[in-house]
Amino acid sequence: MTDLLSSVSLRDVELPNRIVVSPMCQYSCEPDGTATEWHRVHLGSRAVGGAGVVMTEATAVDPVGRITPHDLGIWSDEHATALEPITEFVRDQGGVPGIQLAHAGHKASKERPWEGHVPIQPDGTGPSGASGWEVLTPSPEAYPPFDGERPAMKKADQDDIEGVIDAYRGAAERSLEAGFEIAEIHAAHGYLLHEFLSPVTNHREDDYGGSFENRTRLVREIASAVREVWPDDKPLFVRLSGTDWLDDRESWDIDQTVRLADDLAALGVDLVDVSSGGLHPEQAVPGGPNFQVPLAERVREGADVAVGTVGGVTEPEQADALVRNGRADLVFVGREFLRDPYFGLRAAGDLERDPEAVRDQWPAQYRRAVQR
Ligand SMILES: Cc1cc2nc3c(=O)[nH]c(=O)nc-3n(C[C@H](O)[C@H](O)[C@H](O)COP(=O)(O)O)c2cc1C
Repeated sequence: MTDLLSSVSLRDVELPNRIVVSPMCQYSCEPDGTATEWHRVHLGSRAVGGAGVVMTEATAVDPVGRITPHDLGIWSDEHATALEPITEFVRDQGGVPGIQLAHAGHKASKERPWEGHVPIQPDGTGPSGASGWEVLTPSPEAYPPFDGERPAMKKADQDDIEGVIDAYRGAAERSLEAGFEIAEIHAAHGYLLHEFLSPVTNHREDDYGGSFENRTRLVREIASAVREVWPDDKPLFVRLSGTDWLDDRESWDIDQTVRLADDLAALGVDLVDVSSGGLHPEQAVPGGPNFQVPLAERVREGADVAVGTVGGVTEPEQADALVRNGRADLVFVGREFLRDPYFGLRAAGDLERDPEAVRDQWPAQYRRAVQR
């Protein structure tokens, strides 16, 4: 019986269970993108807490692709060196370290959420005094001013597009050096790659805009470039928004997601992590427990690729049912892992019938907590 606690091999990497720490931005670097003690403790705690995969937050492949000046980065060898002790620790705890590779596109150059999350201009006038930068986007005209403000925007030209592909390739190489075993390309939530996918934000008339083939070209080129340098024995994931939730207009939807998932599988992508939305303020998102599961199911039924689901999963039994009922291969858990870093151990306690097996899943240092 395949269930939440059963192991699974993706290529040659064995995941001890189906529980993934969903990528979650911490905005906790100095403005140089280097991992700090916060990252070590935050990610390390969730590895101690029994997650099968511990995925980093959106990690910028290029400084222009940071959401805020405090985002984690992987555009230099020094970044990889700083991440190495973290991947080592996650592995020592029996978890699999993963990295989400990201470029924020039009949503870059903002203050941190707790500093207002407003766009910051290049002249150092952000509320925290931070300086922003010119952001990259497929079609600057697609964005209305945000509270009267627009970030400084640049329409991506051919050189920029090639630069982004190279940045992803380089980031994947450095991720390998840092000891990661799973790479995930972030193509969801209204960031650069999703902006290219959706006709709402992609008004281009060149090879990267218009038809489905053209709008998906950049994501496919990046998947191929990453796959070239990411070893054959290690899995590659892509996070997609299954829909823009903008049914009243021509937009990105689940049919296109299924088609792209199949194309990506043919390029060597092993799992599509199905999220949704994040592109446009008028999105009508239903929310609630399991609200994105039907999108994941559609991809699982229609494309030849493994599928992760995410969103509103808070209980071990709920996550277990998703795997047992064949609705997803992996379950990504976000906010519940912020509330409870030991969600994985909690799941073992709730779901595992054999008390000895539960004890074995606890770190030796903590085992007295579950011994009679
Ligand atoms: C604090 C926070 C930061 C997030 N940062 C990211 C991110 O870096 N990359 C990403 O793909 N999603 C990000 N998300 C979305 C989560 O990965 C997840 O998809 C979302 O929270 C829904 O899952 P949940 O209901 O289990 O929290 C973030 C969510 C939160 C709460």
